[in-house]
Amino acid sequence: MTFISDLPRHIDKEVTLTAWLTDKTGRGKLQFLKLRDGSGFVQAAMSKNDVSEDAFETGKRLVQEQAVRVTGVVRADERAPGGVELGVKDLTVVSENHGEYPITPKEHGVDFLLDHRHVHLRHRRPWSIIRVRDCVQRAVADFFHQEGFVRFDAPFFTPNAAEGTTELFEIDLFGEDKAYLSQTGQLHAEAGALAFGKVYTFGPTFRAEKSKTRRHLLEFWMIEPEVAPATHEDNMALQERFVSFLVRRALDECEAELTMLGRDLDKLRPAAEGNFPRVTYSDALGVINDRITRGDFPENVSPDTPLLTWGDDFGAPHETILGASFDRPVIVERYPAAIKAFYMQPDPRDERVALCDDMIAPEGYGEIIGGSERIHDFELLKRRIEHEGLPLEAFEWYLDLRRFGSVPHAGFGMGLERTIAWITGIDHIREAIPFPRMLTRMRP
Ligand code: 4AD
Ligand code: MG
Repeated sequence: MTFISDLPRHIDKEVTLTAWLTDKTGRGKLQFLKLRDGSGFVQAAMSKNDVSEDAFETGKRLVQEQAVRVTGVVRADERAPGGVELGVKDLTVVSENHGEYPITPKEHGVDFLLDHRHVHLRHRRPWSIIRVRDCVQRAVADFFHQEGFVRFDAPFFTPNAAEGTTELFEIDLFGEDKAYLSQTGQLHAEAGALAFGKVYTFGPTFRAEKSKTRRHLLEFWMIEPEVAPATHEDNMALQERFVSFLVRRALDECEAELTMLGRDLDKLRPAAEGNFPRVTYSDALGVINDRITRGDFPENVSPDTPLLTWGDDFGAPHETILGASFDRPVIVERYPAAIKAFYMQPDPRDERVALCDDMIAPEGYGEIIGGSERIHDFELLKRRIEHEGLPLEAFEWYLDLRRFGSVPHAGFGMGLERTIAWITGIDHIREAIPFPRMLTRMRP
């Protein structure tokens, strides 16, 4: 079986494809069939003189998304996407369609397309985005393998709330102890780091986000490296190597897809170079407030965006303002401990802040990474768990990691869909995953 992506290697040869009709043009004796087969898109020219009467009539009757088997000769054609065209010699129908295909070439609303996501995935835009996602997923595995990490799969059912209790999905465990769908693989990754040195998790994560935003899903994929021993500085350096590697790979391997999506590649290129700027939370606050005071708002940011006072968390518009101040991702470090997770190591120079950082993508994509050095002191961690009002029994195993041979260690989590949304330049995270799960979307 030959796929469309193989055609450039078969110039002037005869091949047979199984493909789907996306569109049809032409008149009379020359018909142009636009075909796709998952691996790519190609135009097939069907001339009445080159095929049987039967095949010609079949070709003319084909409807959108009907499956056909086409035999033809591959012709080099510089103007064609992919550089080839197919000259049809024979054509048969694989199956008849039952009913009219719902997605026509006319414009459809986003909700209609998401309702028909199971077939919309066949179209160029989602097809390109999911291919970039695949490329980045492979790059994740390559990067960590090259850096000596072990892939370490954290469980999806967990007894622990690590990222705050408000966003938990509780599971009915036959009346036994409480269990939740995992918000993060981090705590288990920490056990992994103390066993293997460098590990990373890569799996789905669940958060009962009640807000409807362009950046939040109920189910998203997170990559969480964890290293022992490691410091906050090591952690930031790893993040920069990681993200610039992913962008380089996407630029190297997915130029066609990114171009199909209309991505401005010049805006992406600086991130491939590394050298991400670093600012402290306090300095970032100054940059943001300064722009608000001057009325210097990037596109899509409301002029009503409130000024920040020290201790406030950044909202989406604040992140957009900060992100717009740099041409590549910016690392914001040392946030106030009070607005961050309980497990973060306090800064020894200023206990009000944590040895943590967020990476903020440019162009309004906001936070793509959150990470920190972890508390390694047994007593301090215990106090923090109690202070947070978390059930100590559920965290005893986590405390064991400090009872026995504790060392400073650090890690971070990168949201895959936010990263893909930024790399592909799409304006909503829901298109960065095959089947998005949101407050208002559980189907298909
Ligand atoms: O900043 P977060 O909450 O960090 C953690 O979960 C840490 N335990 C990670 C670690 O240190 N191992 O989430 C990390 C990233 C965010 O920066 C964002 O990219 C993504 O996960 N994220 C979401 N993506 C889509 N939808 C949501 N609801 C998300 N919540 C977080
Ligand atoms: Mg975060």
